[in-house]
Amino acid sequence: MPSKSPLRIGLAGLGNVGAGVYKNLAKNSDLLEARTGHRLEIARVAVRELDRKRDVEVPKELLTTRPEDLIEDDSIDIIIELMGGTDRAYDFVTAALCAKKPVITGNKALLAERGKEIITLAEQENVPLYFEAAVAGGIPIIKAVGEALVANHIESIHGIINGTCNYILTRMEDAGLSYAVALKEAQDLGYAEADPTLDVNGWDAAHKAIILAWLSYGRWLKPAHIHVEGIEGIGRTDIGFAEILGYRIKLVAVVRQAPDKRVEVRVQPSLLPQGHILANVNGVYNAIALRGDVVGDTLFYGSGAGQDATSSSVIADLADVSNNLAAGIGYDGFMPHGEFGEAVPLDDTVSEYYLRLQVKDQPGVIAAITTLLGNRDIGILSVIQPEPDTEEDENAGATLVLTVHDAAYGNMRGAVEEIEKLDCIQETPVLYRVESL
Ligand code: HSE
Repeated sequence: MPSKSPLRIGLAGLGNVGAGVYKNLAKNSDLLEARTGHRLEIARVAVRELDRKRDVEVPKELLTTRPEDLIEDDSIDIIIELMGGTDRAYDFVTAALCAKKPVITGNKALLAERGKEIITLAEQENVPLYFEAAVAGGIPIIKAVGEALVANHIESIHGIINGTCNYILTRMEDAGLSYAVALKEAQDLGYAEADPTLDVNGWDAAHKAIILAWLSYGRWLKPAHIHVEGIEGIGRTDIGFAEILGYRIKLVAVVRQAPDKRVEVRVQPSLLPQGHILANVNGVYNAIALRGDVVGDTLFYGSGAGQDATSSSVIADLADVSNNLAAGIGYDGFMPHGEFGEAVPLDDTVSEYYLRLQVKDQPGVIAAITTLLGNRDIGILSVIQPEPDTEEDENAGATLVLTVHDAAYGNMRGAVEEIEKLDCIQETPVLYRVESL
């Protein structure tokens, strides 16, 4: 194909992913030119500090500290937003769309919080907007849901969609590392967000789940309406008991339709059966198990974080924008398969559970606990009480681990609150979901 004029790109943000885009565009420039018909050229790069030491060497004359320069430069065709944050990024992205410049962003927090306004603006201005890198790094899940699975109603999505958490849990489980050491490793490897709190408290995964819920069910759920728990409290004790019971603990995002056109979206540490493919997704890898009414079960697997994998998704969006520009197509967003209602309240969501209790070692304890569960119609699946170490202080008590059948979260939580009030309980109970998948 004879090459057309170069496409000039304004890149805002030269952090881990931005540097990956710069590096990999250069690495595969001939291939990309052959595939798109255009030389894809980074013409300007907005950074926070001009003199910072970086992974890639960018000519000084390309750098600016004013992201607005990229929008104001008429020679720039496409904007890539990888600056992070929400307020400044919102102003930047909306200004670019109003200036009729196609936008590619990897900013899941921005989309989760203000996606509705941004998509509406892209539609109104009829300007391409792409965000493949916002969910699951290098896995092309946005394109899959929006294009390849267009024949389906999406029934459910179960995802491991935070590489940092999955890396930490895997290293705690396989190498016996403490949480703090495993987190430090993930940060050193460039998997974590600038503020790793968002990774470990579950919100990075929740932002991605909100985007997947919109793609699948046509509604931007408010962060306040979904339940999110992180991995900060997980310790080796529960990882060990989960293993004995035949499970692995993962941070799982669930997005699924409820019978009355409501949507269930939640992110929580959950026990997955060891034999299920999702339980065997380790390290920084992400996986998304998606069930459609036509296709049945599908699984998408790949690197969910990191410079190269995530830049692969950004560059794929560049190829799409290049096609849009060639065909004179503006915003060609995806139509969800239905307009669904609000989020299912957490208390109505149903699953099995894992409950660990530290109790006084005395007669009648198990009977008291099982009575409280039975009163609420919660059936017991299994009970473990390891024999105490005889050398331990006899007042140290006993550990009791139960798994229970499907129950609504509100009912289960109510039971745990009642159990916690029993005299025999020595520590705050630990409750996790068990996803039967
Ligand atoms: N910090 C994110 C993760 C990067 O660990 O998955 C990709 O969003």
